[in-house]
Amino acid sequence: MEALSRKECSVCNDTGWAELVVEGVQRVSRCECRRSKFKKRILEQARIPGRYRGCDLESYENHDPTQRSAKGTAEQFVKVYPEVDAGLFFIGSCGVGKTHLSVAIIQALINTKGIPCIFFDFWDLLKTIQQTYDSNSEISESEVLIPVLNKEVVLLDDLGSHKVTDWRRDMLTYIINKRYNEKKITIITSNFIPSDKAGKRSNSEEDTLEERIGERLVSRLYEMCRVIEIKGKDYRRQIRQAAHRSTLR
Ligand SMILES: Nc1ncnc2c1ncn2[C@@H]1O[C@H](COP(=O)(O)OP(=O)(O)OP(=O)(O)O)[C@@H](O)[C@H]1O
Ligand SMILES: [Mg+2]
Ligand SMILES: [Zn+2]
Repeated sequence: MEALSRKECSVCNDTGWAELVVEGVQRVSRCECRRSKFKKRILEQARIPGRYRGCDLESYENHDPTQRSAKGTAEQFVKVYPEVDAGLFFIGSCGVGKTHLSVAIIQALINTKGIPCIFFDFWDLLKTIQQTYDSNSEISESEVLIPVLNKEVVLLDDLGSHKVTDWRRDMLTYIINKRYNEKKITIITSNFIPSDKAGKRSNSEEDTLEERIGERLVSRLYEMCRVIEIKGKDYRRQIRQAAHRSTLR
């Protein structure tokens, strides 16, 4: 019984309001325990995949000047938010830390400013929406779309990871336009480089982003996001090689 009646917060006795004296006058303010509960809840709602939950700005290393600059942009973005007029669009090859840095931004926005953010894998999102058209589906299309359209900050990870059909392109255009019109911030990552940045790679076998998602959508993304290219080595491979070397030792 005693455990049930024990107060969790000794500052406010679980009322949510803390008393304080300012210049001799007794005041009440929201207790820190409520703020941390609120942050915990928005962090849970952000649906960050387990493997990325530990990603923060501090642990993002600079092995390349573009990584240093991307990290600086990310830090500045968090610092001045909500005074930002565009989202961020990180492009670059596999394992350079695009998802790490994007997750670090949304975790920092949640922890330092209590901003509601949500993570979506581009392909999972489109698949989930498509599944709602099944007559046996327990959730409706609008239930899936509400957080995608309304969350203050959306992270759309791995854009273009699968080639899009007309329906998928229309859905993506709808989501992106709607968020843009509502002046909501979207952070995007992609492996595919827009043709103007593809440069000498334009002759390569790799598709450009336009080939993956269409020119109109790419042009929209340029309007709503600042494009940041990250270069460097594949970090996953480096970690594996380091582990391999240590087992040989
Ligand atoms: N600069 C970095 N500093 C610290 N960790 C990094 C860095 N870059 C990548 N990592 C780590 O390497 C792994 C892969 O990074 P991440 O998933 O962010 O790459 P990505 O650029 O999104 O790759 P992909 O294009 O395949 O999605 C993660 O565990 C991440 O934490
Ligand atoms: Mg990624
Ligand atoms: Zn309290």
